[in-house]
Amino acid sequence: MSLTSSAVAPSPAAGGYAPTAKALHWIVAVLVIGLIAVGVGREFMPKGPERDFVTMLHKATGIVVLVLMIARLAFRATHRPPPPEPGQERWRTAASHAVHWSLYLILLVMPVLGWLGSNALGRPVNMYGVFNLPTLLAENEDLGEAIYDVHGVLGFTALALIVVHVGAALHHRFVRKDAVLARML
Ligand code: HEM
Ligand code: HEM
Repeated sequence: MSLTSSAVAPSPAAGGYAPTAKALHWIVAVLVIGLIAVGVGREFMPKGPERDFVTMLHKATGIVVLVLMIARLAFRATHRPPPPEPGQERWRTAASHAVHWSLYLILLVMPVLGWLGSNALGRPVNMYGVFNLPTLLAENEDLGEAIYDVHGVLGFTALALIVVHVGAALHHRFVRKDAVLARML
């Protein structure tokens, strides 16, 4: 799968992303910014039921992002995204592909690590108080802590990529004044 080829359905007229791709992009964007804020913010809360509740919301919403990212990849594999802006330099296109695919990868790996890390620490992943996800890993505290170290590093990597990504979108809109942002709106 590549960002510009091997798709079956044509991209919608006028070079924009499909409505489904746009909807998934913006829902995931809002959820991920919230997850990063809550993931970091919960560290500053005193231990107790409120922090446990916030952690449960973080975990369950992280799993929702996992499901949305799988749906997004499936949609992406079957629907051609718009081609690069006419005349755009190749390095710019390559850089945007690198950032986009890194985000796809990180947003698939992070929730899986969160799930595995919770299991290793002997804690269930509860979906909004409704049901628990199955346990995938036996309890192993050292492993759980190592997994959460990686989860944290990836969280800050995702944040850095998002800053670059949003910066690029705003650069296209206000400096280059091209249609790149419009095709995702
Ligand atoms: C795309 C999805 C996710 C993102 C972007 C995300 C992001 C983050 C971030 C930025 C932190 C703070 C890291 C730190 O301060 O070192 C964090 C912590 C945490 N996340 Fe996630 N997370 C996601 C999914 C999940 C899932 C699915 C679970 C569990 C099922 C989970 C469980 C946790 C826990 C327990 C912590 C606290 C870790 C600790 O105390 O060291 N996260 N997350
Ligand atoms: C957590 C936040 C965000 C994440 C994880 C994210 C992720 C992504 C990904 C993976 C793509 C590639 C879509 C594809 O081709 O399949 C994309 C495209 C895009 N995103 Fe975001 N995004 C976020 C926030 C934003 C924000 C806030 C803006 C605008 C200010 C934005 C503007 C765009 C634009 C314009 C594109 C299309 C780029 C192009 O056509 O080459 N994104 N985003």
